[in-house]
Amino acid sequence: MTSENHEESMRHLAAQIAAADMAYYQHDAPIMDDAEYDRLRQAWQRHERDHPLLAAAIMPEGENPSARIGAVAARGFKKKTHRQPMLSLDNGFADGDVAAFFKSVRDYLRRDFAADPDLALEIVAEPKIDGLSCSLTYANGQLVAAATRGDGQIGEDILANCLTIADIPPQLHNAGTPPPDLIEIRGEIYFLIADFLALNQSRIAAGEPQFANPRNAAAGSVRQLDCSVTAARPLKFFAYAVGAVEDKNGKAITVPLTPTHWQFLDLLQKWGLPVNPLKKLCHNEDQVLAFYHQIDSDRKNLGYDIDGVVYKVNRFDWQQRLGFAARAPRWALAHKFAAEQGETTLNAISIQVGRTGALTPVAELQPINIGGVIVSRASLHNPDEIARKDIRVGDTVRVQRAGDVIPQIVRVVVEKRIANTPPYEFPSLCPECGSEARREGGEAVMRCTGGLVCPAQAVERLRHFVSRDGVNIEGMGEKHIQNFYQDGLIRTPADIFRLARRRDELLQREGWGQKSVDNLLSEIEQRRLVPLDRFIYALGIRQIGQATAKLLSHHYGDFLHLQNEMLAAANVDSDAYANLVRINQIGTAIAADLVAFFAEPHNRAVVADLLGEINLVGGAAAAVISDSPLAGKTMVFTGELDKMTRREAKALAESQGAKVVDSVSKNTDYVVVGRDAGSKAEKAAALHIKILREDEFLAMTNNHVQAPND
Ligand code: IVH
Repeated sequence: MTSENHEESMRHLAAQIAAADMAYYQHDAPIMDDAEYDRLRQAWQRHERDHPLLAAAIMPEGENPSARIGAVAARGFKKKTHRQPMLSLDNGFADGDVAAFFKSVRDYLRRDFAADPDLALEIVAEPKIDGLSCSLTYANGQLVAAATRGDGQIGEDILANCLTIADIPPQLHNAGTPPPDLIEIRGEIYFLIADFLALNQSRIAAGEPQFANPRNAAAGSVRQLDCSVTAARPLKFFAYAVGAVEDKNGKAITVPLTPTHWQFLDLLQKWGLPVNPLKKLCHNEDQVLAFYHQIDSDRKNLGYDIDGVVYKVNRFDWQQRLGFAARAPRWALAHKFAAEQGETTLNAISIQVGRTGALTPVAELQPINIGGVIVSRASLHNPDEIARKDIRVGDTVRVQRAGDVIPQIVRVVVEKRIANTPPYEFPSLCPECGSEARREGGEAVMRCTGGLVCPAQAVERLRHFVSRDGVNIEGMGEKHIQNFYQDGLIRTPADIFRLARRRDELLQREGWGQKSVDNLLSEIEQRRLVPLDRFIYALGIRQIGQATAKLLSHHYGDFLHLQNEMLAAANVDSDAYANLVRINQIGTAIAADLVAFFAEPHNRAVVADLLGEINLVGGAAAAVISDSPLAGKTMVFTGELDKMTRREAKALAESQGAKVVDSVSKNTDYVVVGRDAGSKAEKAAALHIKILREDEFLAMTNNHVQAPND
């Protein structure tokens, strides 16, 4: 397997694990069985052992499947097989779906209904609690098992956790009707909205991530191997259905405990289980719909999240005859609510820059209470989404909160738009570093091209730079990079090679002694000789894996030649571009990423700075860009520049073949003058040396390349 394939299969694995985790933990709906999941995780761990830095680069911190301690622990729950499967419910959304449900039940039971067309079809309507479903097993009235739904057949054993929930009685009451020898009781564990908000407040205070909604809070609180954590969370429970019932010999009892579901709910209550008080016994479809609409309008005052109303055929003998279709009973329907919405003002659009440089627009909203949760931000996804919905800053917008989905802007209330509100213009520069942002071929996402200088991406890029397949600096783990970056010890790759000058500072750092500092520094020293292909790979240019880096290294042979060619290839009609895409395996998408990387002056400056610290093997690093007007010139920089630091500017000039010196003399060709320049500028004027402003200098660094539309 080539290393690039390696990277690809690791990315694929990581994506599969993330999808499985999401389905399992967020949606309570696994997409694979445990054996399959374990196989994926073991495969990931093998890769991680062999390629720790690549693993770290692929999986951002906290998302690494091996690092997700909580998740791993949750996977450590014992399994529990349900005696009777826990099924889901069919969903309906429109009133018409309810009519169809009534009709299908009547059709199914036509023997009875044909004989007596006036026969009432009683339906029990109950709020559909948006929590975590749970099956409680009582033997001789004693709680002996509790399990999550899992895949419907097998769940996780959460008995210890359930024993800490005050709403769940450890012992059923013997109120007139004694509980059977064994009974599975199904219900929902949930969180009150007020408790959810308070929990999140305390998590913010403790620097912990917040739960997305009350349901996730409930699931996260129950799935704790340490049940003292569960005990500290104010979890609630409602019982609403029965599973298996057995006699003392373990034989299934099929005769219903009560003739109707309505009476069974009563019995549950008598046994000491909480039953939702909002249930209603309805005698026809109109009553059912009236109840649904009533609950929908009351739900914001309930104090807990519900996402619909469940209708159940009341007579158990009919339930038994109706039975089950593939995944849900024929005798029940979940009539879901439309997502809750509200109207508010869009105060601003902020841009977040992710670790891979993706620019994500976020709506900053006038805070609004939607169904008990304060919403102040919503995702806008990407520039296309903003344009498609014509969302403008200052607009009144309809916002929707649906389940665990991040709040969405449904649409703009155009009637309320203030006249002359200008359309939103998506920034073309990265807000973090000022580099150009551009779209990848065909993608909706805008990305910052300043990978090496952008603070949002810096740690990620540095980590990639030192990774085993990159420059391979072993003692430089992610934590060190993060800490050094935070404290300003390293900002760009070149800084790594200048760490030796900061030995004293390193020695004063907590956890660092003479030996570890010297080990690190000597490791760095040994890496000053870098093979060209590793160097190209280490730059972290999008889509440039090891195999492509090797191709480029072979093809161009020399880094500055490569850079020069990529600058020229900005013009797609150039020979340079034709040469580039002629290389086997380099298509237009990869070409575009390469060109964009080198077109960014910040990147070139960082690379040039780096080339001052290392030596490339297999390439003539000192070669100059022969057609740059700066090639062979002697230059001085003085005063403060606006677009880059003087160090970056110096490196950029050197990358074009200029020699940069400190003092002005008659041998100086150019003096670049920034703000507050002093005596050097005066001396240059006196010696009649060509003075350049910053923008003139920058233009010269670009000008030797034909602009795309020239
Ligand atoms: S009855 C055989 N009643 O909704 C069906 N389910 O979407 C037994 N739920 O997995 C379920 N409130 O977790 C029933 N009053 C209620 C419910 C309810 C919430 C959940 C339950 C089920 C899911 C189906």
